Amino acid sequence: MANSLTILGIESSCDDTAAAVVRQTDGQAPEILSNEVFGQTELHADFGGVVPEIAARAHAEKLDVMVEAALKASGVLLKDIDAIAVTAGPGLIGGVMSGVMCAKGLAAGADKPLIGVNHLAGHALTPRLTDQLAFPYLMLLVSGGHCQFLIAHSATKFQRLGGTIDDAPGEAFDKVAKLIGLPQPGGPSIEEAAKSGDPKSHKLPRPLLDRAGCDMSFSGLKTAALRARDALVADQGGLHQQDQANLSASFQAAVADVLTEKTRRALAQYLELAPAAPAIAVAGGVAANQTIRDNLSKLADDHGVRFTAPPLKLCTDNAAMIAWAGMERFRLQLIDDLTLTARPRWPLDTAAPAMLGSGKKGAKA
Ligand code: KG4
Ligand code: ZN
Repeated sequence: MANSLTILGIESSCDDTAAAVVRQTDGQAPEILSNEVFGQTELHADFGGVVPEIAARAHAEKLDVMVEAALKASGVLLKDIDAIAVTAGPGLIGGVMSGVMCAKGLAAGADKPLIGVNHLAGHALTPRLTDQLAFPYLMLLVSGGHCQFLIAHSATKFQRLGGTIDDAPGEAFDKVAKLIGLPQPGGPSIEEAAKSGDPKSHKLPRPLLDRAGCDMSFSGLKTAALRARDALVADQGGLHQQDQANLSASFQAAVADVLTEKTRRALAQYLELAPAAPAIAVAGGVAANQTIRDNLSKLADDHGVRFTAPPLKLCTDNAAMIAWAGMERFRLQLIDDLTLTARPRWPLDTAAPAMLGSGKKGAKA
């Protein structure tokens, strides 16, 4: 009979409490048996960002409920799970601790192996869960809290080629939306408004394109959008719908241009490895943006490189990616014990210099 592994994943590093069950049977594609997420957006809505204490308390209250829901939806009993994987960092420490304590309790109570997973590895390994990508591949991780280029060499070896030195793009989308009176989350609102705008209407900068390498900056772009708004307000006393559309289209075009050009540079470095089946993968909430997806997909096409973008539910924070990253570690016999600790910072590439940015959703690792 074919062997199969079934892993329970737990995620609570930011503002989503999530649990999932993932199974892989030898020689077959992995299956997501359940993927439950409880989002805390409403709890933080009045505060203009994630409040760590509120997040930690909400995680502590919801974790067991989500684990139970994920087991129930998967049809698997806890006794039939092979291991419990949990995000052990990086992230907001109270939330990470809640998840780690929950996983330790379950592992000790049910006598199961415990596996601490790096949240960023969860995102970065998702293309193997969804598309069975072979190593090495190039990953652009781009969300409200993260923005970096990584070469995934193996489940434990990631090489950071560059990243944001200030805000993450999702954070910039959210802030610009707020500035021009569009609802949160800003990314989808700006994308929608941009459809009727002219991307050339405002000359916004393309920060750091004059600097070699793949580091990026988005905070100056946000300030430029603020100035453009202020100029319109000073001129006309307010913003018309068409102004919102034009500002949205111009801002989105600037972000897309920066991400595309920096991806081109990251791709050149990655292709030097002469991978047998070259591939670019993108993950994170901003990967939902169609203009950005289209630009990256075209860039990959131009270079004869495969392009993958997971479905949105697996781009944003979820526990299926943690279960999968746990499965990869389990196969390498990288098991933790009850001394596993929660880490607020945990860079994937420990050889790369520390990143400067630390946005609203916590450290970018
Ligand atoms: O990955 P995610 O759900 O959460 C973390 O940051 O961990 O990403 C959320 C971010 C938000 O800033 C949101 O505005 C952005 O992703 N986003 C988008 C789009 N959909 C979500 N940004 C641009 N275009 C979109 N369609
Ligand atoms: Zn994340």
